[in-house]
Amino acid sequence: METRAIRGFNDILPDQVKRWQHIEERARTIFEIHGYSEIRTPVVEFTDIFARSIGTTTDIVEKEMYTFTDRDGSSITLRPEGTAGVVRSFIEHNMYAKSPISKLYYMGMMFRHERPQKGRYRGFYQIGAELFGPKEPLADAEIIIMLWRYFEAIGISPFLRPEISSLGDENCRPLFKRELVKFFKPKRNELCEDCQKRLEQNPLRIFDCKKERCKEIAEKAPSILDNLCDECKEHFDLVKESLEKIGTPFVLNPRIVRGLDYYTRTVFEVTTEELGAQNAVGAGGRYDALVEELGGPPTPAVGFALGMERMLLLHEKMFPDGFKKEADAFIAHIGSEARNRAFLLAYELRKNGAFIDLDYEDKSLKSQLKRADKLGVKYTIIIGEEELRRGVLKVRDMRKSLEEEMSLEDVKKLAIKLKI
Ligand code: HAM
Repeated sequence: METRAIRGFNDILPDQVKRWQHIEERARTIFEIHGYSEIRTPVVEFTDIFARSIGTTTDIVEKEMYTFTDRDGSSITLRPEGTAGVVRSFIEHNMYAKSPISKLYYMGMMFRHERPQKGRYRGFYQIGAELFGPKEPLADAEIIIMLWRYFEAIGISPFLRPEISSLGDENCRPLFKRELVKFFKPKRNELCEDCQKRLEQNPLRIFDCKKERCKEIAEKAPSILDNLCDECKEHFDLVKESLEKIGTPFVLNPRIVRGLDYYTRTVFEVTTEELGAQNAVGAGGRYDALVEELGGPPTPAVGFALGMERMLLLHEKMFPDGFKKEADAFIAHIGSEARNRAFLLAYELRKNGAFIDLDYEDKSLKSQLKRADKLGVKYTIIIGEEELRRGVLKVRDMRKSLEEEMSLEDVKKLAIKLKI
């Protein structure tokens, strides 16, 4: 028997793990400063949790789930995504009763029986966040802003295109679907077999078809953004306004459908042209009805999930020369007293989470700066006799070649900022 991993499942070897850890660590930092806490839910749930959340006529539920019969006869499924399990846990642990708002994030392996290719696997990792409680458009905006902040922090935002739309709610979406049926019905015979089925089940999914002829026909179909009810339109306008205020980029794409059925109102997808067919790096949206559908009290919610492997492919593209985070700042010292001071300072700053390096022997300032340069640090903190005497620190911005004197307190604040 051949010794190999199952098709579509990958090992992440030690020389790749540094990059993975970096991407995960940045997510933790950024999400936590937005008030999110980590949740870890099981990789397996009762099948019904996924079928009811994601929708029984979706590709995921119809074709892609790893479903087994447990020894007691119950049907269980390896999670194809994170939201359903988090919602289940939110309800089971009465989180809604403990606080009006819950902000949760997760990282972990998901399972979908898709045809494997670059960027698409059967076992893959997602990083996701879910916000329960607020119905306000500010919440949708904040989550998109956080997402973009994260992409900037890991350096892949130049490859990305954030697209947003609204899918309306239980009032306007059914009317829009009827509009779509009216539009597609006369062209039914020109649509592919799948789309003919979609026309019966969910005409919105026709927008997802990759076939040229279907795409051509769908191009002229009415836009959901012109068919939103007043409440949904106002909600969407406020989301856009808040994004504009912060300067978070977005483009409108009224053809976003999503492969999961739980969405209401705002939806978004972050796409790239760098990964061929697997162009979605992350996606999400509002799902105001799901908590109630799974047995909880009515609780609006909004969230997203990002494909870890796809982010990593982009990260490798952006930083091809291998990735090893060496340090955020370097402390250079002149004289033995300064060296002892530098040693203590390094300890202080590391306590604040900054990644600090320094030399242990007395070298010339020039050679220490050379090393700092090689490490690629953003800042070098210089302690000389003069600085010691005056109780200040000199901070050199290595990229801009600017020097500034700072107090120890200011340097600590800078160190905290460096983490993000
Ligand atoms: P999704 O669009 O199904 O949404 O997946 C999110 C991301 O997971 C995709 O954009 C993609 O980057 C990655 N992904 C999906 N399938 C694969 C695969 N086979 N191989 C590699 N990467 C993949 C969700 O899962 C929702 N739960 C998002 C969400 C959270 N909505 C609200 N909250």
